[in-house]
Order: sequence, then structure tokens, then C-alpha cells
Amino acid sequence: MFKVGIIGLGAIGQRLIKSFTEHPEMEITAVCDPIEELLNSTVAAIGKAKGFTDYKEMLKNADIDLVYVAVPPKFHHQIVTDCVLEQKHILCEKPLANSVEEAESLYKQAADAGIIHAMNFPLNYSSGNATFASYIKEGYIGKLRRLELKMHFPQWPRAWQQNNWVGSREQGGFVLEVGVHWIQQIQKIFGPVQLVHRNVSFPEDENLSENSILAVLELEDGTPVFINGMSQTAGKEVVKFTAYGTEGTLALEDWSELYGAKQGCDFEKLDESTPVSSLMNELVNALHHKEADLPDFYDGYQAQVVLESLRN
Ligand SMILES: NC(=O)c1ccc[n+]([C@@H]2O[C@H](COP(=O)([O-])OP(=O)(O)OC[C@H]3O[C@@H](n4cnc5c(N)ncnc54)[C@H](O)[C@@H]3O)[C@@H](O)[C@H]2O)c1
Repeated sequence: MFKVGIIGLGAIGQRLIKSFTEHPEMEITAVCDPIEELLNSTVAAIGKAKGFTDYKEMLKNADIDLVYVAVPPKFHHQIVTDCVLEQKHILCEKPLANSVEEAESLYKQAADAGIIHAMNFPLNYSSGNATFASYIKEGYIGKLRRLELKMHFPQWPRAWQQNNWVGSREQGGFVLEVGVHWIQQIQKIFGPVQLVHRNVSFPEDENLSENSILAVLELEDGTPVFINGMSQTAGKEVVKFTAYGTEGTLALEDWSELYGAKQGCDFEKLDESTPVSSLMNELVNALHHKEADLPDFYDGYQAQVVLESLRN
């Protein structure tokens, strides 16, 4: 059994508690959050885990192989640094940190320490996204002409993520919270990408995150990548990623529903048949010193470079 400690028991922390609990080789031995009520209810729900309000106490006193860091982005750097100093393996939430400098420091520290340093980018374990990548690889769309990411939100922060940071300019916004997943996917499937032009709008309140972005980036061969993001829109939330090619088009709608069509034809839903692993299985492989398909802090750092070029 691998022993897991979790720092941050909010929305995503709770989601991954379920995944850790369901894995036969993982055991949550410690959890930490400064909100005592949340801490106590989580400890009660898990059963055997020890609760801590101070993560440093947890790192010193609990029996842990791997720490999962699920706190808001501006706390990642300090907390992950302290985990590295304690030689713990780490799974960190995206984005890796809250600036390029912080992200670079984390990936260098983790690499030097020789620990496992994984990122939680869940699209890597979605069969829709994996099948999209397989179709691209086998040439379904022909030569790539353009990538397009559309992110429209009727409300930001979304109803299910009402907290004190995700709507803030300091460490929130949909470009950071949603866009970074797609930056990582673009880099993984299509290679390096860099900013050419951007137009970002913010509300008058300088504490609030962006409400619009139009950006053009470029792949290494000059293929354009267009980002169209907006909040406070009519209708439903749209998160859609499209690859246009000389012979066809592939689209991931609602994050991972795969549609495709050859030029001139109507779109149809495509079978999402490419097999995928899970974050938990890959973490366990890494902990057993086996080969593992895990985005790491270097991937997190590379995504952060592009993210910050869009944010700043
Ligand atoms: N991978 C994904 O799909 C995904 C989805 C949502 C959020 N996230 C990321 O996960 C992180 C957390 O997001 P969330 O939506 O769960 O936020 P949240 O605000 O719901 O939860 C964060 C929790 O961290 C706790 N916390 C803050 N400082 C702490 C500290 N020093 N020690 C221990 N706990 C501390 C807070 O009390 C809170 O309970 C962010 O980086 C976010 O970008 C990732």
C-alpha cells in the first residue's frame, strides 16, 4: 500500500479523495486543511486518516509516501517546496504555480531531489481526448491548418466553484483555470506553441479576473492557434477544441466528446475507442519504479510559460 497525504480538501481535493480511496494500492493516511469543519468531516468520511490544520505538521508527523497538493495556485510554490524538502513524492494540481519563475523553481527542485513530480491534468486520461490524438496521428484531418479553443462561460466563477480565488486577477480567471488544460494538450499533441498576439479585457474592479480574451498563438511550423474566451455570456457554457485540416475537421465538444467530419461532410460523433489508463494507475506505476504516463513538473512549467504569456 502506498500512503497518501492530501493538502487542500476543497472541490478538487474531494474529487480525488474518491479516486485514491477506490485504488487498491493507495491509502489516504493524512489530510490537511485549515478549515476545521471541512477537515473533521473529511477525516470522518475517510475513516483512518489523521487530520491536520497545518501542512508542515502533517509533513513532519504523518506516515506518507506521496503528497497530493490541491490548494489554490498562489500557495503551490511554498507548499510544494516544503514537500520537496521532506523528500516526498508529489502530485500537484494545475497550474504548477502562480508565475513562470515559481514554476521553474519547482520543476528544478523536484528534478534535483529525484522524487516523483506529477501534475493532475485529467484530459490525459480521457478516451475522447486520446482518440482525438490518435486520429490526428493517423492523418484523419490531413495537414493541420488551424487549432481553435473556444471557452465561453455564462458565469465566472461557475456555480460549482464559488470560492475566494478563482474569480480573482491574482490567481484566478478562466484562462488559468480552464485554458491551461488545453495548453498542456496542445503542447503534448502538437508540440511547442508561443504567443503572437492577444487582446484581453478585464472588469473595472481590478481585483477581478479577465472577462474576455482573443489570442493568436503559433505552433513551430507557423500553424495558427486561435483562442476565443469570454465570460458573462448568454446560453450554456462552451468548452470546445477544434483542429481544422486540409482533409477534415476534428472537434472535442464539452471538453471530451469527439466529433469529426471529412471536408464537405456533416459532423458525426466518433467512437472514443482509444484505451486510456488512469491517473491513479500511472501514479502507482511510478511508485513501483515502472514506466508511467504522467505529465510532470516540466510539462507543468512549459504550460505555465504559455499561460503567463496570455495572462500578463
Ligand atoms: N485538475 C483539475 O481538473 C482541477 C479542477 C479544479 C481545480 N483544480 C486546481 O486545484 C486547486 C484547488 O482548487 P479547488 O477548486 O479545489 O479550490 P478550493 O478553494 O475549493 O479548495 C482549496 C482548499 O485548499 C485549502 N487551503 C488553502 N490554503 C491551505 C494550506 N496552507 N494548507 C492546507 N489547505 C489549504 C482551502 O481551505 C480549501 O479548502 C487549484 O490549483 C485549481 O486550479 C484542478
